[in-house]
Amino acid sequence: MNQTIELLCRHTSIRKFTDKPIETEQLNAILVAAQAASTSSFLQASSIIRITDSNKRAELVKLSGNQPWVGEAAEFFVWCADFHRHQQIAPDAKLGFTEQLLIGAVDTALMAQNALTAAESLGLGGVFIGGLRNSPNEVVELLNLPQQVLPLFGMCLGHPAQQPSIRPRLPQSLVVHENSYAEELDGDQLAQYDAKVRDYYTHRAGADKIMSWSDQITAILAKESRPYMQSFVQSQGFATK
Ligand SMILES: Cc1cc2nc3c(=O)[nH]c(=O)nc-3n(C[C@H](O)[C@H](O)[C@H](O)COP(=O)(O)O)c2cc1C
Repeated sequence: MNQTIELLCRHTSIRKFTDKPIETEQLNAILVAAQAASTSSFLQASSIIRITDSNKRAELVKLSGNQPWVGEAAEFFVWCADFHRHQQIAPDAKLGFTEQLLIGAVDTALMAQNALTAAESLGLGGVFIGGLRNSPNEVVELLNLPQQVLPLFGMCLGHPAQQPSIRPRLPQSLVVHENSYAEELDGDQLAQYDAKVRDYYTHRAGADKIMSWSDQITAILAKESRPYMQSFVQSQGFATK
């Protein structure tokens, strides 16, 4: 392995931060690295809102489901799919296609992951905040997001005040298929992985939830998943056709 791959494989989300701010130079480097990500058709269909207003940050804590780390991290960003810029440049642009929602979401996720990896390479840490989609209309209002700008997720960044153990991922054999999709799930591999995840939770600080991966995803997927998102994305001008 090399240092880049080792860094990627060491990743863990950080949810406890020291009070130390991120230096301007480091922050700039993180954002430059974010923008260096691949982008579909060179559209660069993303915008990042850096939150420096403490009132807005406090509001975003509430809107993201009161996750304390949203308020405590040195930096908080809102990552958006953005075709508003394109519309200003090309007023006759044909927008609203579902494909453009996918382009915007993929471009933005690639940028955000670059940012997190860049931060981790500097000894910083962070976590994505999908909780931002709990109250998307309120986020739009708070941040003055125009049509064709879609808030996708937030991200906390800062100096880590914890060192969580690495969350084990699925075995490669269950994820990587060769030439065609192998529909049959390898039960033995899954059972081994479930035991590994249960063990991870057992030994994790706090040991607050001890469950297998299968138990966990079953519980998550038994609930509706933000059913208002379809009408929300359409209200921002996305996926109307
Ligand atoms: C798009 C996205 C949204 C997420 N939203 C949240 C969130 O709202 N709150 C949180 O604490 N973690 C959030 N996470 C972090 C995941 O829980 C975490 O990545 C996953 O459990 C794997 O753990 P690890 O990152 O430590 O390896 C999110 C991750 C992604 C990719």
